[in-house]
Amino acid sequence: MNMGPIKDLGRVFDRVADAYDAGRPCYPDETYRALGELSGVELDGALTVDVGAGTGIMTRALRARGSRVIAVDPGAEMLARLVSRSDSGPPAVAAVLADGNALPLADGVADLVTYAQSWHWLDPVASIAEARRVLRPEGAIAGCWNFNHAAQAEWLAAYEARLAEAVPAYYGPAVEQWSAPPIASAFEVIEERWIPWTRLVGIEDFLLDLRSHSYMAALPPEYADELVERQRVELRREFPEGMLPVPMRVYLAVGR
Ligand SMILES: C[S@@+](CC[C@H](N)C(=O)[O-])C[C@H]1O[C@@H](n2cnc3c(N)ncnc32)[C@H](O)[C@@H]1O
Repeated sequence: MNMGPIKDLGRVFDRVADAYDAGRPCYPDETYRALGELSGVELDGALTVDVGAGTGIMTRALRARGSRVIAVDPGAEMLARLVSRSDSGPPAVAAVLADGNALPLADGVADLVTYAQSWHWLDPVASIAEARRVLRPEGAIAGCWNFNHAAQAEWLAAYEARLAEAVPAYYGPAVEQWSAPPIASAFEVIEERWIPWTRLVGIEDFLLDLRSHSYMAALPPEYADELVERQRVELRREFPEGMLPVPMRVYLAVGR
């Protein structure tokens, strides 16, 4: 395997792996119920390839539901967190340092291919061709993303607006033409669901989550620190008790 390009692909998130591991939210239970329903795949006993698995947020949840998981990611630091948090008991989890556009897997072996918060980092055509190749005929492909639902709370809209103003690479709910990644256009048969939920999180964990975004990792460190401090001051003013009820929604798309 040529490790040069793999290292480059994983570099953005590898720089923020600890913040990612500590700050990013899980996906609500309804995500997995809907995934089973829309895909027709029984998670218990399925073989799932979790592409862009990162620190393992979805890998762990799939495993907890009985799925054997092959976790694929080009980020060595991200995968190291996934491995250190996985026990050795069944069902099995295999961590593979690889590019999701060229999966090092045989044809027709998997029941599910998942992209949790990751498909937009891959090549839109090559990734889906690879997913189709490794799937059994009755298998399914699923993409999901967790988003802040800024329209549901003024404080959150203001928080996103401050980011949009300060961060050149920001792409999120405060951008007028913002939308979920277009994974749906890759399929003839697609089922989509929006799943609303509320994340109760402490301000410091919420700010760690902020630091784990690629657009923050690209900023000069002093500028990022200053922006995080400004957000901290505003959030503490709004929520002096330190806990945030963050309105969120998961976009789930399942294709065959
Ligand atoms: C936003 S993180 C998502 C991590 C995890 N799935 C989650 O739900 O939190 C995106 C992940 O995609 C990975 N990634 C980037 N390019 C990739 C590629 N070509 N193939 C596979 N994974 C890739 C990154 O290394 C990173 O771990």
